[in-house]
Amino acid sequence: MENVADISHLNKIHTSMPFVGRLNSIWDKLTKSLGIFYRGSWTDDPKEPHVAFTQLFVDYKFMSKYSLLQTSIIVKSVGPGLAVVKPEIGFGCTVGILSFTPLGPFQQRHEILWYSHPATMLLGRMAIHGAVINLERDIFIWNYKSIAAKAIYVKEEREMKAFRRWYNQFYSENTPRIKFHVDTLSW
Ligand SMILES: [Fe+2]
Repeated sequence: MENVADISHLNKIHTSMPFVGRLNSIWDKLTKSLGIFYRGSWTDDPKEPHVAFTQLFVDYKFMSKYSLLQTSIIVKSVGPGLAVVKPEIGFGCTVGILSFTPLGPFQQRHEILWYSHPATMLLGRMAIHGAVINLERDIFIWNYKSIAAKAIYVKEEREMKAFRRWYNQFYSENTPRIKFHVDTLSW
């Protein structure tokens, strides 16, 4: 959820097909020649302050050059713990429900439920597989990150700044802070 407005990170760590490195060499080479490229935008909903939308345009390209398939995805974020993912496809219907539940410092439970029409069942299975692989790629980055309270943004990252402002509404003075975790280490 936390990088749903960070559109530029998609083209850095989510471009490879989910199957890369997990298939035998011939299929691996083939999937390496295919890439997924993204552009999009994030906006909050002025009518419902706890809701925000990410609109993604996804382009599947061969050799990073030739477009094979284009689609779009709308991610509706409902508060900090729920997201509804709806790919726009020309047939059937498929929708993903993603939930995020904090369990403790640096620990959360993430559940993915994907509902599909029989015509899009295969697509739904691929979407779950892709979501899990891409989450692993995100976690690899998150394990090395630190949070800057006053981050400096370039012009292209203004949506991330707006997202942080939007996300801030879900914290209060009573929200447990990570300071508790730091205190326990100072003996
Ligand atoms: Fe990501």
